[in-house]
Amino acid sequence: MVPGGETDRPAKREHWASRAGFIMAAAGSAVGLGNVWKFPYMAGENGGGAFVIVYLPIVFTIGISVLLAELIIGRAAQKDPVGAFRMLGRRPWPLVGFMGILAAFLILSFYGVVAGWTLAFAVKMATGVFSVPGADPATIFGAFIGAPLPPLLYAAAFMALTAWVVLGGIGHGIERANLVLMPLLFVILVALVARAVTLPGAMDGLMFFVRPDFSKVTGATFTAALGQAFFSLSVGLGAMITYGSYLDRKQNIGRSATSVVGLDTLAAILAGLVIFPAVFAAGVDPGAGPGLVFVTLPSVFTQMPGGQVFGALFFVLLAIAALTSAVSLLEPVVAFFMDEYGFRRARIAVVTGGAAFLLGIPSSLSMGPWADATLFGKGFLDLLAFVTSSIMLPVGGLLIAVFVGWVMGPRAIAELKGEEATAPALARAWLTILRFVAPLAIAWILVNELISTG
Ligand code: PHE
Repeated sequence: MVPGGETDRPAKREHWASRAGFIMAAAGSAVGLGNVWKFPYMAGENGGGAFVIVYLPIVFTIGISVLLAELIIGRAAQKDPVGAFRMLGRRPWPLVGFMGILAAFLILSFYGVVAGWTLAFAVKMATGVFSVPGADPATIFGAFIGAPLPPLLYAAAFMALTAWVVLGGIGHGIERANLVLMPLLFVILVALVARAVTLPGAMDGLMFFVRPDFSKVTGATFTAALGQAFFSLSVGLGAMITYGSYLDRKQNIGRSATSVVGLDTLAAILAGLVIFPAVFAAGVDPGAGPGLVFVTLPSVFTQMPGGQVFGALFFVLLAIAALTSAVSLLEPVVAFFMDEYGFRRARIAVVTGGAAFLLGIPSSLSMGPWADATLFGKGFLDLLAFVTSSIMLPVGGLLIAVFVGWVMGPRAIAELKGEEATAPALARAWLTILRFVAPLAIAWILVNELISTG
């Protein structure tokens, strides 16, 4: 106990009330801007279906293995990431937990900014800002992120929502929110798919997504796919260690992890099935990059029948996806201060959420007034995004794989074997992936990335 810490921490750790609640919360963490915003534009730039063909095996081998490793660490230790590594390993290992908490906080700061845009665009769509004759989506987007104040107000609103969910605790806050929001998210997603694929000309978009163009596949495609797999599954920073620490021993986590990866992948593919048919039907460029969702799509929506409603729904979908992910970024930070220093949940949720918002300010300004202030050729937001998702997450994932594969080793297998349904061959394959495949693959990405940017 640290001086000044509060002593009223609950005697018993809170647990998920149901298996479905845990799966929805973990899937809520996984399904985020990464699925609906990043996956489609990455596929668009990397040969459509060809990217999917590269991505799927990676996610279902390395991705699922590291996810399971995090859940095992959390469930075994019943602690925040730092406490978990301290309990299960020796000295330098808690640093991995610490780096994860830091990464979660840094990601949350800029994730909240982009999530704020989604809220703003839901409002703009619903109020018909894009339907005004002569309205140009690129200009509207540029003017919005370029003005200092409005993006910050939306970011503040988003962060307040995030802290509010976390404040409610595991069962009443996070689990309950996800049990409502995740089914809603999938309903909206399916409705949007139905709208998109019935547009005239949608077929070309479907074909783009289904028929692989292997000429676009290079070494960089594999790097991008592995990085995307980690970010999309929320692994590498201890978010899943934290969620795993609220599991009791009765649950079969092998099966839960499979459901989470399945739902995450399904959401990414459905998002592609919304975006590509819509984009092709409107005759715009599918390889538009990060602007695909905020510039290309609004122009698509304004051209389609019922576009105002479907457009608003689309951005509500994005905001929901972002919220359930942001919650899982704030929770590890909150759990760290609760478990390590005895802080009370409500207070620390507000303080850390507020701090993440403050750190988001330079990110937000870097898209507008501070656009010229760059370091290594990147603005503040891009730089943070690069350092966290291209360096900290892969390094974290590598170390987590090594920890469970080599340090916990047989103990990790024993943790899994507690579950009747786990086939020994699968458990062995899992350990092999953690020991050899994942570390080598991740090390290879890191080297590649540093070469290509350095
Ligand atoms: N998985 C989330 C997404 O796809 C992002 C995220 C990363 C959330 C890491 C939590 C932890 O948008």
